[in-house]
Amino acid sequence: MQKGRLLYEGKAKKLFETEQENVLMVEYLDQATALNGLKKDEIVGKGQLNNQITSLIFKELSAKGIETHFIKKISKDEQLVEKVKMFPLEVVVRNVAAGSFTKRLGISEGSQLAFPIVEFYFKEDRLDDPFINEQQILVLSLATEAEILQMKKIALQVNKALQELFLAVDICLVDFKIEFGKTKTGKVLLADEISPDTCRLWDRSSQAHLDKDVYRREIGDLVPVYQEVCNRLEKRRDQ
Ligand code: ADP
Ligand code: TMP
Repeated sequence: MQKGRLLYEGKAKKLFETEQENVLMVEYLDQATALNGLKKDEIVGKGQLNNQITSLIFKELSAKGIETHFIKKISKDEQLVEKVKMFPLEVVVRNVAAGSFTKRLGISEGSQLAFPIVEFYFKEDRLDDPFINEQQILVLSLATEAEILQMKKIALQVNKALQELFLAVDICLVDFKIEFGKTKTGKVLLADEISPDTCRLWDRSSQAHLDKDVYRREIGDLVPVYQEVCNRLEKRRDQ
């Protein structure tokens, strides 16, 4: 598959056209950002790890009957995906209180939530990706009622599948962010990535952070932590 025109360069990935109109090539970058890009560093090895972890996870979701944009991994830092029209929304699922949830609601980090909750954020860098509710999504015509319902349903299915997957490798899935797009036929499809950049993952015995919080909070080195997550998932896959 030929790498065509650069369509988009984001904070963690580049998107390229291919000779197939509905297929994109995604290149995972050796770059980490936090605070909406205010903190930014080159981190050698991060792109390959996130490409591998996302590929493993999307394959697992597919095996569990959850459709995604993922087609295949084609090199250490590249994968092919189905091109979709992204909803400008970040969909967050939380099982345990952490991050912005604890700050906004004054709940201590680590409190188990009575049931998983789904939140939406408006993906708009200029506004710092604010929290948005379902009526606001409708008023701004960002998605229809049926599409919101579908995103919530898939988000909870992904949560269940990921909780099982991470539990099997002794990791607690605290929360995660996913993104959806719409296919040419109008189907709501899980897209983007699922990696330690987009999840909070705590080691079940030590409670150590195995995710991007080590970079955000400057409490450790990112690469060995992402490598640990990757090793555990690969070991489980090969068993
Ligand atoms: P950001 O845009 O937040 O800087 P990235 O660097 O991860 O994030 O950029 C990847 C971009 O690609 C995101 O904006 C995401 O919404 C978009 N994207 C992910 N999957 C697809 C897809 N299948 N089709 C089109 N765009 C996609
Ligand atoms: P939050 O607690 O900061 O709202 O984050 C919730 C989850 O979403 C956490 O797993 C990190 C992830 N996330 C992203 O992937 N991208 C983002 O821009 C933000 C703010 C959070």
